[in-house]
Amino acid sequence: MKPESGTFVVLASGRGSNFQAILDRVSDGYIPAVCRAMITDNPDAYAIERARAAGIPSEVVSFRSFLDKQTYETALIAAIQKYDPDLVVLAGYMRILGSEIVRKYSGRMMNIHPSLLPSFPGLHAQGQAVRYGVKVAGCTVHFVTEDMDAGPVIIQRVVPVFDTDDEEILADRILLEEHLAFPEAIRLFFEKKLCIEGRTVKVTNQGEMPDFGRGT
Ligand code: GRF
Repeated sequence: MKPESGTFVVLASGRGSNFQAILDRVSDGYIPAVCRAMITDNPDAYAIERARAAGIPSEVVSFRSFLDKQTYETALIAAIQKYDPDLVVLAGYMRILGSEIVRKYSGRMMNIHPSLLPSFPGLHAQGQAVRYGVKVAGCTVHFVTEDMDAGPVIIQRVVPVFDTDDEEILADRILLEEHLAFPEAIRLFFEKKLCIEGRTVKVTNQGEMPDFGRGT
């Protein structure tokens, strides 16, 4: 078996299809890392069932059990810390994280968003795209910063938008690309090929940038 090169924890709030896509690519060896746990804010999340089926510990850190955002966040940090992950993966985690956790995992926390950022941040990105009338849409995997849906972009994948699309049809088309983009971004992270320079993420080849044939 290939040696694993790291560990990660997934945060998810709902059905967890991205979580599943990531687990599948760990199982087939594409992602050279171990998923240590899945943490959710939603006791009814289907992601819990997916974790159970995969034999991965899951924890519920429910916002409603805490007095305020700060105590919630402290508990969330403690839950993550327990697994000491190299990377934190937000796979459909529907809460905005505070600055303490974002700073703690700076450069080590990724999110996926179902639009081509910076277009259509926030909720119902696919509906926003349909209503705006754009001709292409897609998904973005990015590092998390304190500004919502605004961190350095790692990978984007594009899909066409057709006149007959509604929010749901477009969301399904984008989701297929999400399931490819997220494992690829995680793999690049564990292969140590991601280099953040300001707001740009450069994908290097073991520390060397490809010269794209432009060498002297
Ligand atoms: C995905 O569309 C993701 O981009 C967004 O929330 C959705 C989560 O879906 N952040 P799932 O729970 O991974 O199926």
